[in-house]
Amino acid sequence: MLTVKYALDEFIHDMSALVDDQPDQERLFDLGSQYLERLVVNPDAIPEEYRVPARGRNHGTYMLHHGDNGLLVTTVVWGAGDHIGPHDHRTWGMIGVMDNGITETRFTRHDDRSRDDYALLEKDRETLVRPGEVSLLVPDVDEIHQMDNYSDRPTVEIHVYGSDLRGLQRSRYNLETCEARSFTTTRFDNC
Ligand SMILES: [Fe+2]
Repeated sequence: MLTVKYALDEFIHDMSALVDDQPDQERLFDLGSQYLERLVVNPDAIPEEYRVPARGRNHGTYMLHHGDNGLLVTTVVWGAGDHIGPHDHRTWGMIGVMDNGITETRFTRHDDRSRDDYALLEKDRETLVRPGEVSLLVPDVDEIHQMDNYSDRPTVEIHVYGSDLRGLQRSRYNLETCEARSFTTTRFDNC
């Protein structure tokens, strides 16, 4: 049987058309995750140089597409043992695992959000996200997570967001002290 692989430019075309259509959140995630699930089963869709950690680092982030409609598509590579603590995103997002797996821990925020420097978080669930699977980032509802690659080899993911992360004021959270600290993504490894 002939299997037609889904290419990156096809994914970007379909995803851009979906975003341009200004769908409600349910339709965005429903169709968008179907597109992303098709893409992540085809690692050849992404240049090899964007599926490895950046030179001299145990991590890599590479921009693949940024459209006028805000759509941002990146690859993120987590080296063996790589980790990032709890943080938010301030935009909708979808994360598809292309190779290996990632342990994603989600948190629920329980304070009234009246202070920028304080957040009371409670662990909600821990999931091992495997190749071909997609997890969703729902703004204000379910978007605070911690990521760990507990394996001995790199994990490759495709990230899709509604906005360029480089322009967003986001927060990192300390679970012990409840401190929230603002941060901004300044660059990707290829730009
Ligand atoms: Fe994240």
